[in-house]
Amino acid sequence: MDNRRTQFLLFTDMDAAGEAAAREIARVLIEAVELRSAGTLVVAGGSTPRPIYERLADRGHAPPVPWHLVHLFWGDERCVPPADQSSNYAMVRGSLLDRIEIPPDNVHRVYGELPPAKAATRYEADLRRHFGGGHPPVFDCIMLGMGADGHTASLFPGDPLVDETERWAGVAEGRHASPAVPRVSLTLPVLNAARNVVFAVSGEAKRRLARDIEAQIEGSQRYPAARVRPAGSTLWFVAQK
Ligand code: 6PG
Repeated sequence: MDNRRTQFLLFTDMDAAGEAAAREIARVLIEAVELRSAGTLVVAGGSTPRPIYERLADRGHAPPVPWHLVHLFWGDERCVPPADQSSNYAMVRGSLLDRIEIPPDNVHRVYGELPPAKAATRYEADLRRHFGGGHPPVFDCIMLGMGADGHTASLFPGDPLVDETERWAGVAEGRHASPAVPRVSLTLPVLNAARNVVFAVSGEAKRRLARDIEAQIEGSQRYPAARVRPAGSTLWFVAQK
C-alpha cells in the first residue's frame, strides 16, 4: 500500500512559511525523541531556510526541541572552508547552531575544505558510522530547498549524481550553480528513505514549479526535486514572495 502523503501549503511570505515549517520540524523531532529516544535532521542550504532556523533557535518557540538528543546533518555543502560565507555550514551555524545547546558530536558537517571526493567519502563514512552500513539512513526529517531549475540539495538536472543508486553521498560539479563550485550532496536513495521531507521555497516561479512537481505534470520528472518521493510524508512550505 502506498501510504505516501504529500501536502502543499501556501503562505503569503517566508515569515509565515518559516514559522509553520519550524513548528512542523520541531513536532517531528520531538515525536522522534519520544518514540526512539533520538531524532535526526538534515538541514538545507541556500538562503530560504534561514528564517526557519532562526525560529527553531528561538527559545520562545513552544515546544522546545531536545537538541541534546538530535543529530544534525547537511543535505549538501559547497566545497569551501566552513568559515566561507558561501558555506551552508556557516549559514546554519549563524542562524541556528550558535543559538542552541547542541553537543558538538551531534553536528555532522561536510568537510568542504577537503578535496571534493575525499569530503564525500568522509561524509558517507560518518553517515555509515552513525546509522550502520546496511540500507540508506532513515532520517526523521530532511529539509530541502529547490532551485529555479528544479535542483534540490546539490542534485542538478543532467548531473550523473541524480541517478546514483548505491552511494549515500557524492560530488556534484556545480558548474552552473551559484556559487559555481563543486558540492557534496546526499543522493536520492537517502532523500527517499526519509520519514518526513520538508521543502521550503519562495517566489512565484518556484511556486508554479512546486505545483507542477506536486501534480506530477507531464515532463516534471526531468526536475531532480520531482524525484524526491519518500515513502513517508512530503510537505511543501511555499511562500508567495
Ligand atoms: C545550496 C542548496 C540548494 C538550495 C537551492 C535554493 O547549497 O544552494 O542546498 O539546493 O536549497 O539552490 O536556494 P535558495 O533557498 O537560496 O533559493
